Amino acid sequence: MKKPFIAGNWKMNPPISAGIELAKELKKSLFDFRDVEIVLIPPFTHLYLVKKEIEGTKIKLGAQNMHWEEKGAFTGEISPLMLKEIGCSYVIIGHSERRKYFGENDETVNKKARSALLHGLSPIICIGETLEEREKGITMKVVENQLRASIKGISEEEILKTVIAYEPVWAIGTGRNATPEQAEEVHSFIRKILREIYGIEKSNYVIIIYGGSVTMENSYFLLKMKNVDGFLVGGASLKGDSFKGIVENGLRAWKEKGGEIC
Ligand code: PGA
Repeated sequence: MKKPFIAGNWKMNPPISAGIELAKELKKSLFDFRDVEIVLIPPFTHLYLVKKEIEGTKIKLGAQNMHWEEKGAFTGEISPLMLKEIGCSYVIIGHSERRKYFGENDETVNKKARSALLHGLSPIICIGETLEEREKGITMKVVENQLRASIKGISEEEILKTVIAYEPVWAIGTGRNATPEQAEEVHSFIRKILREIYGIEKSNYVIIIYGGSVTMENSYFLLKMKNVDGFLVGGASLKGDSFKGIVENGLRAWKEKGGEIC
């Protein structure tokens, strides 16, 4: 069974006090949204307090990164066991900002995704082309390579617990979102590859979300697309009313396109 998936990636924002206020506000306004999988993904330092705020609601908690090892001499890293212990259900793996600034590559993404699954966390695996790659006409090749490498060794059962986020790098934080048609083109291509690997039935249930300048205004049109199952929202997730608007518009689009709700 599948329902729309909408996650707010707070990145390195806001300060803890404001983050708690935001979680409080969202708890109030999103309390009733049982038909959407809503995930808040604050910085590590906020996780414990945000978890306390959303306790007793359907809102889930996620982290922005993790190491693949359980413990040890890895200064500055956070392990999957720690994320589980603090109450995370999800973890972003391979966000383009991590690939660009912190040397993440398909190999580390794969290690992290498999480790997350092994420890009962659902990875949100990010893939997507740069502007240069899009202009060269190699978007599909890039997406295919990243996808295949990232999910290598992930079983049929595990892929159902994995979220694939298509995030064109040129659309992240730029105010220039992919058009619904551009997003659908890549999402249906991702679904096709998943079909080849996992078969039709399983791949239909894999959640494929879009990220890159999602707003209250464009969320309805993007989620109307057949293979767009939700969003990874950056900037617009930092304001309670805009994140709520994205959830509302997304759910409306999902219902109108006849998406399944469990
Ligand atoms: P944005 O970020 O919504 O601010 O473009 C999306 C993301 O990086 O996940």
